Amino acid sequence: MDSLKLLQALALLFVLTSAVATSSDGSDVYEWAAANGANVSKVVLRDDGEAGPILHAKEDIEAGEVILSLPANLLFPTRVSDHSPVVHMIENTTIGRITAICLYLISERADSSSHWKPWLQSLPPRFFHALSYSEDDMLHFQASSFKELRDRKKKNVRQEYEQTVAPLLHKLPAFDPLLAAVDKPQNVTREDFTYEAFEWAYSVVTTRGIFPGLLGEEEREGEVPLLVLGPLADSFIHGASGVKISYDAQEHRCVFSALHKVAKNSPISIGVGMSSNMELLANRGFMMQNNGNNFVLMKFQLDRNSDMHASARESMMKQLNLSNPMTYVVRYGEMPQGLLASLRIQSLSPVEFGSYGKALATPVTLENEWRAYRLLISSCNSILAMYPTTIEEDEIVLTQTKTSRHLRAAVLLRREEKLIYESIKTWANDAWASILYASAAPADGSSSQ
Ligand SMILES: *[C@@H]1O[C@H](CO)[C@@H](O)[C@H](O)[C@H]1NC(C)=O
Ligand SMILES: *[C@@H]1O[C@H](CO)[C@@H](O)[C@H](O)[C@H]1NC(C)=O
Ligand SMILES: *[C@@H]1O[C@H](CO)[C@@H](O)[C@H](O)[C@H]1NC(C)=O
Ligand SMILES: *[C@@H]1O[C@H](CO)[C@@H](O)[C@H](O)[C@H]1NC(C)=O
Repeated sequence: MDSLKLLQALALLFVLTSAVATSSDGSDVYEWAAANGANVSKVVLRDDGEAGPILHAKEDIEAGEVILSLPANLLFPTRVSDHSPVVHMIENTTIGRITAICLYLISERADSSSHWKPWLQSLPPRFFHALSYSEDDMLHFQASSFKELRDRKKKNVRQEYEQTVAPLLHKLPAFDPLLAAVDKPQNVTREDFTYEAFEWAYSVVTTRGIFPGLLGEEEREGEVPLLVLGPLADSFIHGASGVKISYDAQEHRCVFSALHKVAKNSPISIGVGMSSNMELLANRGFMMQNNGNNFVLMKFQLDRNSDMHASARESMMKQLNLSNPMTYVVRYGEMPQGLLASLRIQSLSPVEFGSYGKALATPVTLENEWRAYRLLISSCNSILAMYPTTIEEDEIVLTQTKTSRHLRAAVLLRREEKLIYESIKTWANDAWASILYASAAPADGSSSQ
């Protein structure tokens, strides 16, 4: 008998713990959104590992069908608390829209009577975007320009808080223990608007918001909000473009429809525009496989110190509308025309100066072309040497299962960058080979001397 009781108790315990487990898979926020007018007839929320609860198709969805529609009262920051102090705080200021949304997020989070409570409680406790990386984490990015991007973001967010938010705080009531005892936690005070709270709100917006303006033409229709943020809208997987956004101004609903057929049980994916993995990691805290928008930055600068012809080269570059110095965005296996032309100018010997005009479109001479490619390859090698590990060593780290999410992201990103530099060397090799073969072709009468 005792053992039966124990079994029953255990069964009860099991039910209880599994109920707790399902509340963190997003089912609370799903039910709440449905009760508040979201049309979720085609979707469910299902835990997708690192990405958290993600919208999945409940049944096959045909191209053009509505996947999900959300009433305006589920689009933040509508329906903020009646006694939100933010309206008064930002009145007559020129505060940016994103910053205003951050302030509303802070105030709704501090107000236990907020309409948004179920959604705010469903948000993850940690974020994995640029601001979440410590100085120690940053070492793993090696020579990547993710470091500059992250430092700039940290600085900008801090500056926005200090220069825009902090001067407005005097408009809010200060914390008063007597009032707090009476009004309880509904009252939002100045003390709720710390820098940490602002960084949290900023993190929610950048990692979970949809910015329709960044999406492709076919992924939005008509007038769409600048930012779509709120329950379920923040639960698409971001990657391949599978969803079109529109806003029905008559019904006051944000509508997400299928760009292609979505098979039952598959996750529903929304596009990321032209974002590279570096930008995705910095803003949203994740990266995509096979992202064709990845790039490295290569800076071209004429050598003023040891090149006595630097001024002459500079004026040639001016004639050709080539900037010096200039930072080029270089994608996998692609050579920007301006960078190649600049390398040709840098590699001109004085006897070739007269022919500099050809540099924009064609090799100036075979010799010059050869020197330009050598310069390109040696530049790639110098940059690669600034990364302490090789691609092979990075791949070994990636096969280890116990690497943290931060470390893995750093290794993935630095490996992708190295692959791009290697692809540029391969480009130079192939380009040189094709010149050799072209000059050797029998049809070309001027060749083979
Ligand atoms: C919900 O959406 C489905 C298809 O997307 C539609 O058939 C249904 O009528 C909608 N329900 C309501 C209550 O609007
Ligand atoms: C904002 O400007 C209006 C019109 O000038 C004024 O009536 C109002 O009091 C101002 N509000 C605040 C909070 O300063
Ligand atoms: C505190 O919140 C209540 C509503 O819950 C509101 O009526 C009251 O005015 C607030 N007090 C202050 C000082 O803002
Ligand atoms: C450089 O730019 C100027 C003005 O934009 C233009 O007139 C000129 O044709 C350009 N030169 C070349 C070589 O592209």
